[in-house]
Amino acid sequence: MQRLIINGGKRLNGEITVQGAKNAALPILAASILCGEEVTLKRCPEISDTYSAMRILNSLGCSAGFDSSAGNTAVVNTSSLSRFEITDKLMREMRSSIFFMGALIGKTGECRMSFPGGCNIGQRPIDIHIAALKKMGVTVTEEYGSIDCFCRNKLRGAKITLSFPSVGATENIILASVLAEGTTVITNAAREPEIVCLADFLNKCGGNINGAGGGTIVIEGVKELHGCEFEIMPDRIAAATYLACTASAGGEIAVRGCIPRHIEAVNSVFEQMGCIAHTSADTVFFSAPRSLRAVDIIRTTVYPGFPTDCQAFVMAALCRAEGTSVFVENIFENRYRHTEELRRMGANIRAEGKVAVVEGVKRLYGAKVAAPDLRGGAGLAAAALSAEGTSEISGVEYIDRGYEEIENALSSLGADIKRV
Ligand code: UD1
Repeated sequence: MQRLIINGGKRLNGEITVQGAKNAALPILAASILCGEEVTLKRCPEISDTYSAMRILNSLGCSAGFDSSAGNTAVVNTSSLSRFEITDKLMREMRSSIFFMGALIGKTGECRMSFPGGCNIGQRPIDIHIAALKKMGVTVTEEYGSIDCFCRNKLRGAKITLSFPSVGATENIILASVLAEGTTVITNAAREPEIVCLADFLNKCGGNINGAGGGTIVIEGVKELHGCEFEIMPDRIAAATYLACTASAGGEIAVRGCIPRHIEAVNSVFEQMGCIAHTSADTVFFSAPRSLRAVDIIRTTVYPGFPTDCQAFVMAALCRAEGTSVFVENIFENRYRHTEELRRMGANIRAEGKVAVVEGVKRLYGAKVAAPDLRGGAGLAAAALSAEGTSEISGVEYIDRGYEEIENALSSLGADIKRV
């Protein structure tokens, strides 16, 4: 069992280049199935979820791996796709295994899999994904925890209105419809930048998708797609994580290679805390004062609002702020599990239902804590950086799902952190 050992109290200084976006890379790796040719993905993050996606591709008969001669370049060839069934073990490795449903059904008209695993942050049903596939002519049978999808003829385009702008459902519908017969129109679509990235990738492969990034996406089915070389967008959540770590520990950093407008809602919260975030086209120049101010209320919501994925580490930074901060978690119903661990470090947080109230304390203390999930784990690291003494964070495997060697990134900024 690996752990992160962090000696808190060191201010962060320096610059960091942000990794490629996990939430863009995973649907795109699944999308490569639709191309049936070689796909080269640059800035692909080397995180454990990427390796899980590659294992799924291998299990389906495709080749997938990192090019050892070029950093962060993934090469996938799906011309030898020979299966449409994914084992329960592989499905459970991550939530994003669900993208293989849209990609496989779109390519072969058939797929069989169990329900996806992933971080335990809420129920995370897939009813919206399944209802959409049914509208496109797919017969979906759910029994004994497995999902069977079958479509005798080609999938047909449909008008699909989402009851909630689900990111995963929007992406799955795009995957299923890009090779379908006719036009698919998604209304109340999710607007997250990762959806734009997926559409850009598919369009580069010969797809015809318009409107991604807005509430209505129109997909004209095309006969076939081809391979391409594509660069994954920078990870806005990882960028925000390193800013939150700096807000927590104090200091001055530059986060390079990011798209600052993707994290405007988070930067606005950092500014309310007393931090300064100047941006250029691809860099955030960030400085955090020694003491932070509380933020009245932070509501997580869909893009371009404050992301649920940033809630835990921004909360960690606010543990030592002056005053009371209130969080309302509107996306996932079980996303406050880090609060219990933060309390072990001396934080004063009460959480009930959707609401968490953080009363700022003078100091946090190093403690033995366990990452409850990916972003909650990053939150514990952010808190440990500002705590007095040594913290030991277990459950590092959650953090590794989304961050490329977080300990190297943070120690390059001057943090005293190591993995044991
Ligand atoms: C994606 C992100 C995740 C992020 C989340 C919200 C990826 C790989 N993951 O997750 O990091 O936290 O968006 O920005 O991109 N829902 C249903 N039925 C469905 C689908 C969703 O009720 O069929 C509900 C969920 O339970 C949740 C809400 O909709 O309450 C949002 O979920 P969704 O946008 O689908 O998130 P994910 O795609 O799972």
